[in-house]
Amino acid sequence: MNLLSSDDLSKDSINEIFKIADQLNSGKQELGIKEHATMALIFQKPSTRTRLSFEVAMIQLGGNAIYLDMSTTQFSRGETFADTAKILGSYCDFIAARLFRQSDLEEIANNSKVPVINALTDTEHPTQALADVYTIRTYKKNLKGTKLVFVGDIASNTANSLMLTAAKFGMDVFLLGPKGYTPNSKFVTKAREYAKVVITSDIADALDDADVIYTDTFVSMGQEADADKRKKLFAPYQVNNKMLELANKDAIVMHCLPAHRGEEITGEVLDGKQSVAWEQAKNKLLLNKALIIYLSKKT
Ligand code: CP
Ligand code: NVA
Repeated sequence: MNLLSSDDLSKDSINEIFKIADQLNSGKQELGIKEHATMALIFQKPSTRTRLSFEVAMIQLGGNAIYLDMSTTQFSRGETFADTAKILGSYCDFIAARLFRQSDLEEIANNSKVPVINALTDTEHPTQALADVYTIRTYKKNLKGTKLVFVGDIASNTANSLMLTAAKFGMDVFLLGPKGYTPNSKFVTKAREYAKVVITSDIADALDDADVIYTDTFVSMGQEADADKRKKLFAPYQVNNKMLELANKDAIVMHCLPAHRGEEITGEVLDGKQSVAWEQAKNKLLLNKALIIYLSKKT
C-alpha cells in the first residue's frame, strides 16, 4: 500500500492512523514495524520538518532512514525514476519521496514493491494533511461542520491535500483567494463528494464564523521565477489581526511552515495565542510514526 495522494486514504483508514497516533501518544502502542527496517528518503526539493520527522520516526520505531539528495545520486546523470525505484525498493522497506511531478512519484510506486509515501509534490502534501487534521481534531471535537478557511494560494499542494482530508470528515471548506485565481478543479470536485467546498474572494464572508484559519507560503518551491507577481496577487490575503477579528473568538490559526512573516502571515499572528502552528509541526513526527506503523500492518 502507498500514500501517493490524500485520496488513497478513506476516512476509516485515516481514523485508524489517528488511533495509532493516540496510542503512541499515551505510550500504549506496540511498535509495529520489523526490526532494522529502513526507509529511503529521496528528495528533489528542500525540507526541514518532513525529512527530519521521517528520520526520527524510523529511528524511534527501531529502524533507520537514509537520505538521498537527488542532485548527488545517479539520477542527476540521467538514471530514470523507474530504475532508481527498483534499486531503492530492493534495499529498503519504505520509500518517501519529495518530488516536483506527481507522475514521477507514481513511476517510483509502479517500479518498487515497498510502500511509497508522498513527502510533497507540486500537487499534493498528504502527510502534512494528516498532521493538520489530527491537530484540528484536538481543538474542535466535532469535525463535522467545523469551518476551515484556507487563505491565499488555494491551488497549492497543501490546499489540495488538506481540502480532501478535511472534507472526508465533513468539515466545511472555504477556499479564500484572489478573484479569478482558481483552485485545482480535480481536488474541488473530489472534495465536494464528501462536504461543502466554497471558493470565494470575499474575506468577510469567508471568515464569518470561521473555526480554523489556514495559510501557506505565497511562493511554493519551484515557483520562484514568479515570486514578485505572486506576492502582489496574494498580498490582500495576508493572515493578520484584522482578519482574525472577523473569525470566531476561539478560531485557531494554522500554517504548515516554513512561514514568511510579513507575507502570508504576520509574526504577531503566527506567534500569537491563537496559533497552533508549532503544535501542528510537532504532530508531523507523531503522524509519520503512526503512518509507518499503519503501512507496515497493511503490507
Ligand atoms: N511543512 C513541511 O513540509 O515542512 P518542510 O518543507 O520543512 O518539510
Ligand atoms: N506549498 C509549500 C509547502 C511547503 C511545505 C511548497 O510547496 O513550497
